[in-house]
Amino acid sequence: MKTNFLGLPLKNPVIIAAGPWNRDGENIRKSLASGAGAVITETIISEPNLDARPRIAYNGSGAQNIRLYSDVQIEGWEREIEIAKQDGGLVIASVSAHTPSELAYLAVKMEKYGADAIELGLSTPMGGALEVIASDPEEVYNMTRCVVENVKIPVIVKLSQNASNLSTVAKAVKRAGGSGVSAINAIRCILGVDIETNKPLLPTYGGYSGVPIKPLGLASVATIVQSVDIPVCGIGGIDSYENVLEYILLGASAVQVGTSLLINGRSHITKIIHDLERWAEERGITDVDDIKGKALDNLKSFEEIKIEPLYSHVKDIDCIPGCNKCINSCMYEAIYRNEDGEIVVDPNLCTGCGLCTFLCDARKLYLGW
Ligand SMILES: Cc1cc2nc3c(=O)[nH]c(=O)nc-3n(C[C@H](O)[C@H](O)[C@H](O)COP(=O)(O)O)c2cc1C
Repeated sequence: MKTNFLGLPLKNPVIIAAGPWNRDGENIRKSLASGAGAVITETIISEPNLDARPRIAYNGSGAQNIRLYSDVQIEGWEREIEIAKQDGGLVIASVSAHTPSELAYLAVKMEKYGADAIELGLSTPMGGALEVIASDPEEVYNMTRCVVENVKIPVIVKLSQNASNLSTVAKAVKRAGGSGVSAINAIRCILGVDIETNKPLLPTYGGYSGVPIKPLGLASVATIVQSVDIPVCGIGGIDSYENVLEYILLGASAVQVGTSLLINGRSHITKIIHDLERWAEERGITDVDDIKGKALDNLKSFEEIKIEPLYSHVKDIDCIPGCNKCINSCMYEAIYRNEDGEIVVDPNLCTGCGLCTFLCDARKLYLGW
């Protein structure tokens, strides 16, 4: 399923996100070999930092990282891009800086070294200064404009869910001549605290990523798509081909995957793309544009929602033995077992909240008139 993103012809919409899995040419080459439509370098800065140790925590579903960008000097990227592209493929350079001129300097270098597009990292869940830029439409405008004026390749700006005014910031990117936005970056977090040692799992705030942030990524993408006419690349918690489709149906032209690769390896990217292609082939879909934004008509504003006389119904299928999730969770005490032990919903008490239909692992409950 091909897509045209930023004017770049992608053979499929799955891009490998900026991160240490793309820390140099050899790793980017391996990422491209997994089948991805394009690959984004780890973020390149003027003065690389030493890595914190430890820097990645994981709790079985989400990750926290305090990784601080590429440790390769900007000049070193000339050779790395050459290695990265030796078997072909599209490479997007992620760059970050605190001033427009420094950012443009890095972008110009990466264009010269052969990058196909630039992604601007204007936020970071660690520290504070960049997060301030990411929330300030004028700063975002100035940073983006300065890069756009100095390079010929497309410029995409990576937005942060920590900014509460995402649509205003995305509008500033468009005004500045940016070719698109990507959303979202990892989200400022503390993954947990060890209650025996009183220590947070990592010693500073970091970026939350992986499966649990998908709902935030989806909402961010839909918000941007509904308010600004600019191509969007969806990021956050993608772990399967279904997740790729969710972002596309909400209007994304392409997506990025990070933590799923970190946890499962590059072969998982190959599987996601393979599953996506099979799904598309079965339906005769060849281009992302065929399905892009199709869920948006069903996404209403709160004011538009009509109150319908729905309540829970019980299907004639067996319960999971010993499971009382629906009964325990019903705030309205509308669900009970009758004398024969069967689940019954009292329509006079059920208010149609819908929760039981999601909790029922046997799918015995459904909403209806
Ligand atoms: C270990 C790690 C390092 C990351 N490094 C960068 C980076 O250098 N630049 C950047 O823009 N995003 C970086 N990210 C954020 C990812 O690109 C992505 O926006 C975020 O993780 C959400 O996507 P995911 O849930 O698929 O991981 C990093 C994420 C992780 C987990």
